[in-house]
Amino acid sequence: MSFANEVKMDLTGEERSILEGIQGPVPQKILKSVIMYGEAFGADRLLPITGASHQVISLGSPGLALYYGIVQQFVDAGLKLDQPFTVDPRPIHPAMVEAGLMTQAGFDFMKPHQEAYEKQLMALGLKNEDAFTCTCYLEEVGNIPRKGDVLAWSESSAVVYANSVLGARTNRNSGGLDIMCSLAGKAPRFDLLTDEGRQASWLIELKTETLPNAQLLGSAIGLRVMEAVPYITGLAELMEGLPQDARTAFLKDMGAASASNGAVGLYHVEGLTPEALDQGQALLKPGFKTFTITEETLAATHANYPQTWDEPSAAPDLALIGCPHLSLTQLEQWSRALLAALDQTGRQRVGLKTALFAAPGVIKAFEAGEPVLLKRLKTAGIGLSPTCPLMFMNNPMNTFKAVITNSNKLRTYSQTRFLMDEEVLEAVVTGGLKGGA
Ligand code: F3S
Repeated sequence: MSFANEVKMDLTGEERSILEGIQGPVPQKILKSVIMYGEAFGADRLLPITGASHQVISLGSPGLALYYGIVQQFVDAGLKLDQPFTVDPRPIHPAMVEAGLMTQAGFDFMKPHQEAYEKQLMALGLKNEDAFTCTCYLEEVGNIPRKGDVLAWSESSAVVYANSVLGARTNRNSGGLDIMCSLAGKAPRFDLLTDEGRQASWLIELKTETLPNAQLLGSAIGLRVMEAVPYITGLAELMEGLPQDARTAFLKDMGAASASNGAVGLYHVEGLTPEALDQGQALLKPGFKTFTITEETLAATHANYPQTWDEPSAAPDLALIGCPHLSLTQLEQWSRALLAALDQTGRQRVGLKTALFAAPGVIKAFEAGEPVLLKRLKTAGIGLSPTCPLMFMNNPMNTFKAVITNSNKLRTYSQTRFLMDEEVLEAVVTGGLKGGA
């Protein structure tokens, strides 16, 4: 029996003919892989993808040779994505060497693999040379899904943003499947691509006096609901008066923390996010559970983070800020805050090597719009990088370093220590931790 006859999901005539090889062996294998993936998750059919792709594998590394071999088959078959796409941050960039985050030798070792992989991505329709960031949905990058768009993204922080803030529809796919779904132009219909899958099984009641730290709030939500969909009340009221870009930056950081500390792919915020505005509490499933978050909940969440430094009392070596990548407003705010803190203490340079991470397009906009700030940052020893702090930490050469961050995603996947923004600021200026080393 042919594979096409074994498939349980409904297929169109066109899909069946691709499975029978009418477009050649590579599209046939791609569609077969997409269908097998969908069937494993109980998909009933394939949906046409309507938005541009964003892919998670951005790394040119000798360890991924098998994957590049598969991608080369796509290139050799002359395949190209329908719409220009974006990819996660580059692992290396000359700015890393400049900021002292990477040695020239490490950069030279990685460069040939990175260049070869980027050529493959360009052949498949990469948007442009600057299309490397996890915040592809920012204006400066321009891969902004529309409400209702069907996608097949994998980067967890981008998935949760696209679903929740923009009202697009994508599951949390994986590297490799994101590109295959996009080349096939189809996404298997299950979970977050269905109306039922987008309903909330948790009501999160936020009852804090003031707007909490986004990263801590996302962490508390993710740790409680894991992969379920939460419906959050009490947050929109605390955001009243905030400019739009501050709101979306907050939702970006909260979502990334919930997606990494748990596995949230979609959240609804009452009175704020598109589906909650349309449907309100009708989004809550019968029998939903309730979790109330107060200042005490957040303090307990923070206090329970494991201490992962090899030397707990070590003075920090490095501060990494911008996971997910900073928006332009956040980059400007961090720059001004760091420089103001230095001015207050009469210091010229930071006490701790510090890097701010943002999309290439955001860094270019900052460089063009804030030349004076840029010059001062350089003098103060603060680097701007379009790379990914997690890829930096995954380098075995860096795991032994004592690194602080304000990112809960980075804390979760590496040995970095999470600090609140004010604590990071103080540590960067003084070079030490309050009450510690
Ligand atoms: Fe982005 Fe890298 Fe963090 S991809 S979300 S900066 S881990």
